[in-house]
Amino acid sequence: GDVFTYDPGFTSTAACESAITFIDGDKGELLHRGYPIDQLAGKSHYLEVCYLLLYGELPTADQLEEFETTVTRHTMLHEQMQYFFRGFRRDAHPMAVMVGVVGAMAAFYHDSTDITDPWQREVASFRLIAKMPTIAAWAYKYSIGQPFVYPRNDLDYASNFLHMCFAVPAEEYKVDPILARAMDRIFTLHADHEQNASTSTVRLASSSGANPFACIAAGIACLWGPAHGGANQAALETLKEIGSVDRIPEYIERAKDKNDPFRLMGFGHRVYKNFDPRATVMKQSADEVLDLLGIEDNPILQVAKELEKQATADQYFIDRKLFPNVDFYSGIILEAMGFPTSMFTPIFALARTVGWISQWKEQISDPALKIGRPRQLYTGAAKRDYVDIENR
Ligand code: CMC
Repeated sequence: GDVFTYDPGFTSTAACESAITFIDGDKGELLHRGYPIDQLAGKSHYLEVCYLLLYGELPTADQLEEFETTVTRHTMLHEQMQYFFRGFRRDAHPMAVMVGVVGAMAAFYHDSTDITDPWQREVASFRLIAKMPTIAAWAYKYSIGQPFVYPRNDLDYASNFLHMCFAVPAEEYKVDPILARAMDRIFTLHADHEQNASTSTVRLASSSGANPFACIAAGIACLWGPAHGGANQAALETLKEIGSVDRIPEYIERAKDKNDPFRLMGFGHRVYKNFDPRATVMKQSADEVLDLLGIEDNPILQVAKELEKQATADQYFIDRKLFPNVDFYSGIILEAMGFPTSMFTPIFALARTVGWISQWKEQISDPALKIGRPRQLYTGAAKRDYVDIENR
């Protein structure tokens, strides 16, 4: 029969050609369209990075303005979608709500499910990038029993998201520019990461010709897992569970114990085996935000800092090249901003949407596109004859 290459976890298989994002895991390098992530996080901002990922070049001032205006015009959700939110239990995980609502967008925005029309592909991208913050914020508002807050198009992308999450009708709410900047940086650092599990899921889904909303919903579902995007929630919950600095050694021992399934969430990465360049920026940002908010003596932060110190000095972690990844520090910032841990992964999902869409667009315009159809090494029973039930 046929002979196939066996590569569990795809550690050595390139599934596509891509011109979007480059990672050198040994050097700890991450480039979007050639630009280093630290420069983008420091000098650019999320919507500009979105443009870069989608179109391949940094926008001129006019192109950026036009792009921002277009995205901003799509921030509203179809009013009918409110009923969709209201159908969920209040205690539903916001990721469950997002998988459902984003999948349901195909039912609300039929026109952009036609992937053969290049303009509709554009419209689908604008809609997804614009509406994802509204969807995430509404999932949050619903979970805490507060009214939905409509998007405000006079605010920038990050400020609008904070506004939809934290404003209440009874009070004046002003977005703190420090928090808006930190929020924007979190979005920027999560914007794309080449062929990770959720992006590969989006590509595999789209290889069948599925509509963009269905593909992004599939990506969100994959991102939810604790080994991937779910790690930011899990990491902060672990820090809370550890609770105090004196309990850290106990948890490090547990992480090293091969008979204990416990892992230190927020540590390790499939590709980065030296350091995660996103974590370097995120760590600085965490220090800045907490300093500016005047909460540098937060107990969770103390546990985080000490855990980082002890774990990275431990031989087990050194041997396996495990160090804090992006999800370790993002949670600390989000916690300081007042987000519950259940919102951490939805925030990752909204930020990664542009990456998924850029990769989706690249893939469907590739003339070499084939349906993704892995083969297998069959390990089951050999051919045998059916046995009637009375003879089993
Ligand atoms: N705590 C303890 N041990 C670990 C950890 C950890 N967090 N991560 C890896 N190891 C050990 C693992 O047990 C194995 O040890 P041994 O060689 O003795 O069997 C070795 O390190 C290699 O691990 P692996 O699971 O074979 O590596 P992988 O490339 O398949 O997995 C990973 C990468 C990110 C899934 C994994 O490091 C992990 O589960 N980390 C915790 C979850 C996490 O933080 N994920 C977020 C990743 S960054 C953002 C994102 O992608 O969403």
